[in-house]
Amino acid sequence: MSSSDKPGVLHVYDDIEEMDNHLPNWWLFLLWTTLVFGFGYWFYYHVSGMGPGSLETYKAEKAEAAEVARKAAASKPVSDEALLALMQDPGAVDQGKAQFTQQCASCHGQKGEGLIGPNLTDGFWLHGGKPVDIHKTVSEGVVVKGMPAWGPTLGAERVRSIVAYVLTLKNTHVPGKAPQGEPEQ
Ligand code: HEC
Repeated sequence: MSSSDKPGVLHVYDDIEEMDNHLPNWWLFLLWTTLVFGFGYWFYYHVSGMGPGSLETYKAEKAEAAEVARKAAASKPVSDEALLALMQDPGAVDQGKAQFTQQCASCHGQKGEGLIGPNLTDGFWLHGGKPVDIHKTVSEGVVVKGMPAWGPTLGAERVRSIVAYVLTLKNTHVPGKAPQGEPEQ
């Protein structure tokens, strides 16, 4: 280590002059801003509980994606495949179950075991047990026999989720109203 006579130069090594200058203000500004931001971020998201956590964000995004998928499914034409696919969607089935309890259980029983309306859990159907048949019965009803048409009241999306739920009841054989109609297949 050797020193130089030049003002401000502390050491010279291999002709490299080292000085101890003041750090540039733009650099200090960045340093302090990132420190303040980092501290604020940590406090907001990890300490205070005010900011949404990653799990909540993930759940919100997942729910949003499911909603988008459901809307996309609802805009497709009704088919056995589409309804069976909807039956695999727990969100749609839950929504359907809630509607069933409200709108259908008074005539078909809480578990679909039948009351005024037929048992939906046996293997027998008056109007067909295929997904599209059930969809038709639910949306158009059998008005003369006391089964209301639900399409106009509830709208296409709710009817589909109800049908998805009714499909989960199929062949669960809850004891209730005696079988009516024809066995399926
Ligand atoms: C006011 C009573 C009543 C309500 C409420 C009602 N249903 Fe029905 N439902 C009936 C009756 C009665 C029948 C039988 C019609 C017939 O004899 O042809 C029936 C038939 C059906 C069938 C056809 C069963 C078969 O064997 O083919 C399905 C499916 C069905 N209802 C689903 C529903 C759903 C889903 C809801 C709710 C959105 C609902 N029903 C609400 C009275 C009702």
